[in-house]
Amino acid sequence: MTGSRFALFPSMGEYQVYDDHVYDAFDAADDRHRAYRDAVRAAAPGKVVVDIGTGRDALWAVEAAHAGARHVYAVEADPHFAARAAEAVESAGLTDRVTVLPGLSTDLALPTRAEVCVSEIVGNIATAEGAIPTLDDARARLCTPTCLWIPFRIQTFAAAVDLSAAGALSLAAESRPYLHAIFDTTGAPFDPRLCLAGPAGDTLISSCVPLESVTFEAFESPPPPDRPWIPSDEQSEATLRIALDATMTGILLWARVAVSARGGREVDALSGDTRAWAPVYVPLPAPAAVTAGDHLTLALARTTSDDGIHPDYVVALDGRPVWHSPHHGGPFRATPFYRELFPSA
Ligand SMILES: C[S@@+](CC[C@H](N)C(=O)[O-])C[C@H]1O[C@@H](n2cnc3c(N)ncnc32)[C@H](O)[C@@H]1O
Repeated sequence: MTGSRFALFPSMGEYQVYDDHVYDAFDAADDRHRAYRDAVRAAAPGKVVVDIGTGRDALWAVEAAHAGARHVYAVEADPHFAARAAEAVESAGLTDRVTVLPGLSTDLALPTRAEVCVSEIVGNIATAEGAIPTLDDARARLCTPTCLWIPFRIQTFAAAVDLSAAGALSLAAESRPYLHAIFDTTGAPFDPRLCLAGPAGDTLISSCVPLESVTFEAFESPPPPDRPWIPSDEQSEATLRIALDATMTGILLWARVAVSARGGREVDALSGDTRAWAPVYVPLPAPAAVTAGDHLTLALARTTSDDGIHPDYVVALDGRPVWHSPHHGGPFRATPFYRELFPSA
């Protein structure tokens, strides 16, 4: 026990280590849920819909069918939860209008192209679950050129934080089974991305800046399937303005999701009411004293890992890399921060 007001837990969505507890969190009637429900209800009537990553409860597939979709293809990569999704569709009495397809969307074909694509493969760093290559593949093979995309835009925001008064950080005990599941998935232990549990808004000491902004847009004419829609690899930069004299211990990265192009509330993982996303804490190699009015250049580099889907990230501050975060295959206990969290190898 540390007495810290924050516990850390590993960022999990990019490893698909879901269980009933995680899917229960997706079922909560929170900001994310309301925004998706409203967007699906507005878009689905009369349309062919594909739900990529329908999950245990086929939430958006069932919602789309109830809203009058012509047909829904609900794709789920995890075979166990695809079977559960099929049960959910059956108990909703919708088997004639919702087809559950087990498997990865990138490995499947649909009998007809979808006019609405709904997915929630948005990470704690927005692109971490592979939304860009996965939806680019859907754009090229599964959807019509004028397909309506839910979500419409995903972003990653960043700000400097001072956690020096928060006490020593440690892993939440209940997150350890997930950590081991992640290591099993990747084949070896490594230093994972870590999220902060608990409201973190009052730890911010700088302006908030967008470092990723990805908009999924329709085309009037079919785009060439071999042309990437949105670059998977990208480097972005922004200036952080320090708002108060403080000790900068790290940077928070968090997702903001514009679910519908037609307006509606954006879901912000830092300030919003949702358990589906949490901010990622990027610890600096050493805390740094900062003064109100200081300007720092923050950069995020995203490159696709060797699995072709999940990105690796590097964060740099004033031109100096401060955080290397490969999706898998990185070092274990590489920095004092991680050695303190994982005392034994
Ligand atoms: C964050 S959960 C979302 C579940 C549900 N759609 C919701 O919004 O509550 C993401 C789901 O997508 C699935 N998934 C991720 N990538 C996929 C892909 N390319 N094809 C099919 N399923 C995928 C995962 O197994 C997981 O069940």
